Amino acid sequence: MNYMLRTVTCGSLHRQDIGKEVVLNGWVQRRRDLGGLIFVDLRDRSGIVQVVFNPEPEITTFKLAENLRGEYVIAIKGIVSARPEESVNSGMSTGEIEVIASALEILNEAKTPPIYIIDDLDADETVRLKYRYLDLRRPEMQKNISLRHRVIKIARDFLDEKGFLEIETPILTKSSPEGARDFLVPSRVNPGRFYALPQSPQLFKQLLMVSGFEKYFQIARCFRDEDLRADRQPEFTQIDIEMSFLNQELLLDLMEEMISTIFRETIGEELAQPFPKLEYQEAMVRFGSDKPDTRFGLELVDVSDLMADSGFKVFASTVASKGKVVGINVPGCATYTRSQLDDLSPLAVTHGAKGMAYLALTTEGIKSPIAKFFSQEELDKIVQRFNGKPGDLILLIADRAQIALTAMGQVRLEFGKRLKLIPENSFHFLWVLNFPLLEYDEEEKRYVAVHHPFTAPVPEDETKLLTDPGSVRSNSYDLVLNGVELGGGSLRIFRRELQEKMFKAIGLSMEEAMDKFGYLLEAFEYGTPPHGGIAFGLDRLVMLLSGCSSIRDVIAFPKTTSAACLMTEAPSEIDPGQLKELSIKVDR
Ligand code: AMO
Ligand code: AMP
Repeated sequence: MNYMLRTVTCGSLHRQDIGKEVVLNGWVQRRRDLGGLIFVDLRDRSGIVQVVFNPEPEITTFKLAENLRGEYVIAIKGIVSARPEESVNSGMSTGEIEVIASALEILNEAKTPPIYIIDDLDADETVRLKYRYLDLRRPEMQKNISLRHRVIKIARDFLDEKGFLEIETPILTKSSPEGARDFLVPSRVNPGRFYALPQSPQLFKQLLMVSGFEKYFQIARCFRDEDLRADRQPEFTQIDIEMSFLNQELLLDLMEEMISTIFRETIGEELAQPFPKLEYQEAMVRFGSDKPDTRFGLELVDVSDLMADSGFKVFASTVASKGKVVGINVPGCATYTRSQLDDLSPLAVTHGAKGMAYLALTTEGIKSPIAKFFSQEELDKIVQRFNGKPGDLILLIADRAQIALTAMGQVRLEFGKRLKLIPENSFHFLWVLNFPLLEYDEEEKRYVAVHHPFTAPVPEDETKLLTDPGSVRSNSYDLVLNGVELGGGSLRIFRRELQEKMFKAIGLSMEEAMDKFGYLLEAFEYGTPPHGGIAFGLDRLVMLLSGCSSIRDVIAFPKTTSAACLMTEAPSEIDPGQLKELSIKVDR
């Protein structure tokens, strides 16, 4: 089909173009018939411009324009003109002009779309996902997807500039026992055998260090079969990085520079460097989280020492069994009604605590069901520890340390939101350093690696690996932004004797380790450089840059929280013939 090919894009037209003849291609946003004229808002990727059809001097084009409906694809020719003063639209970048059409071609008609192609759409997300190709026409989605492109481009250019090579790693790989659940792919030519889709390119990127590439990156697709949430998808993208001959400081500085470049060049935000750093242990004690939202205070306070000898048995016995009593002081909430106060304990229970007690500091004294268990002196000490003033509401949780801290951390977040303490449009970065290397698995009755078994311990903790495994810190780092884990990585174990010690600590014999990671361990025998790396969640990064609250809004074709694609209807049943070919019987 021959048609009038555009000479410019809709959104690029300005006052300076007045008088020019242009050809535009695009979609009809809407058509209005007013006082003998037809107005069409014409949209392409660059924006929207108003086109006017006049029955004079010739009627055919005008008559054709009467057929136009929303989402028709058209070509028009016309003269750019100034709008009459009273119809200038300052809310629109092309609001000072309009195009007086002299010719029109209808390139394609369109059915009435099931969703409006407008921003701030309140359509049901399931409809948006079913008709994703239409949803993506909306300007805000076009903006998100082009922002995503910009972020990838800037990261690529930055890393290229610093000497990193982009190297692809396989998608059909070997299932490895650590980490989340794998997605599996049956092998037709090897009946009964399966590939796994990569949860991350972790082992391959370490092998590339053995291969001497020194600086690697990849915009890597990762697959994890885990429970989904607003910031988790079964397939997602990492900016994945690994380098040799480095130390923690060098890598973190470089990564701050990359993230700062991305923020500057996309949204014009200058980030203060260096980013603050907190040890994992301190993050837990102060914020009750390994990814603290540092945009507001309300920090946790430990009062275990004050409770050890108190008359409140729940608290005293918790402390006696090495648990903790922690709290926060919520300003202005002492005036909560009885029913608001009664709702507090269940709030903590939903986050795993057994209960939550309160002390309301009113002008008439302390209001609390547990006050009767304490002497006046004890109460004074507690209030003093919290810097309590009349009007404050002190909340307390007693439990095993980890539970008390994390539940209080969640309560802190809840009050941050309730009291509107969280400033919008601000970016608070934080490195959380030195996570525990190992944690005790009650079910397996052994220590397991928190990250993966190639994560290096902090050098001064190495000697405790076999004597006190739970206390060993790893040489790891997470980057947190506004309470979201944006990225994480570690320095790796690269010497054989330390690796053997690590396997011993997690109860893995060298034979078992060879069975699971043989190719990697063998590779490590041939001169492995010191190395380490990090991976950033690209989807989460773009979500935070765009101000969206779900990563689904920055992924062109995302899945629902039940891991389905509503547009293609994947996952779907497959043909019995296909199953037979794969030697698979479905048992349901
Ligand atoms: P990790 O497992 O911490 O590290 O993942 C790195 C980052 O990827 C993002 N992320 C996700 N984003 C969306 N949906 C998910 N399901 C999801 N899971 C993780 C997070 C996270 O911080 N190989 C190591 C990195 C390394 O050690 O170098 C790794 O994958 O933003
Ligand atoms: P009880 O004596 O069980 O009625 O509890 C008295 C108060 O202590 C109630 O407000 C409970 O919510 C609270 N409480 C009970 N267990 C805990 C706990 N582990 N930590 C904090 N508060 C608790």
